[in-house]
Amino acid sequence: MHVSMTINQKPHEGDVEPRMLLVDFLRDDLGLTGTKIGCDTGQCGSCTIMLNGVSVKSCTMLAVQAEGADINTIEGAAHGGTLTTLQEGFWERHGLQCGFCTPGMVMSLTDLLQHNPRPTEAEIRRGLEGNLCRCTGYQNVIKAVQYAVEKSNSLVHMIIDTPGKAFYERQVRYLIGGNPDALVEDNYHEDAVVASFDWTVRGHAALKEHFRNYMRWVQIKEVVTTDKFTETETSVSFEATVRTNRGITRIYDVFMLKDGKVSYHFTGVK
Ligand code: FES
Ligand code: FES
Repeated sequence: MHVSMTINQKPHEGDVEPRMLLVDFLRDDLGLTGTKIGCDTGQCGSCTIMLNGVSVKSCTMLAVQAEGADINTIEGAAHGGTLTTLQEGFWERHGLQCGFCTPGMVMSLTDLLQHNPRPTEAEIRRGLEGNLCRCTGYQNVIKAVQYAVEKSNSLVHMIIDTPGKAFYERQVRYLIGGNPDALVEDNYHEDAVVASFDWTVRGHAALKEHFRNYMRWVQIKEVVTTDKFTETETSVSFEATVRTNRGITRIYDVFMLKDGKVSYHFTGVK
């Protein structure tokens, strides 16, 4: 029988026997061997894929049943070589287990996070019920999911685990909230300087006026990514991609800090 389906955003087709399992079609006919066969009896979850937005065990379906379906396998999880936040969590929190169970866990947990972006630990464990590991444990997998949840829900898309990152998130909270007076009073010293290549502003009154004008002109909607973040006890610097009412902009900032407040701030657009 002839089947056609979309897999990882690309069209695929082939001729299969009616009894062929979907997992065998993916692995043997299409060479997508990231999806594993661990038991062949529907218990282990190694063969989990996303089918029309829902995780399914591909050893429990025939290939012909997937006719016309939109499928994602582990090969399609990372876009353009960039790991998803969940995959990054596996990396950062040592959630990686063996090559058999990990792909299926990633797919099941992708489904969980799509439907529940802030799962509790109990909900994460329930989400993993269909994925069996025969040899290690689940503890670091839970931590990987918690990493992904924390990062996805952070205003600045970071794990906030240092004073510099906490400072940066606070700064962005004021900017997104459009509150120039509180921003200056809470984050800047009385005689702080904010500068760019062609202007310099000093002191609370001037800074409030500066940020008031800036926020009238530019409304920050979201920090899309934060890169090259470095901090010392007295400084924070980074590049960031931000979405504003004027489009996507790439910016960089350097903050010199004294007692947790800004004494000097250089800012620029790339
Ligand atoms: S191979 Fe499909 S559940 Fe084990
Ligand atoms: S089955 Fe993969 S680490 Fe246990």
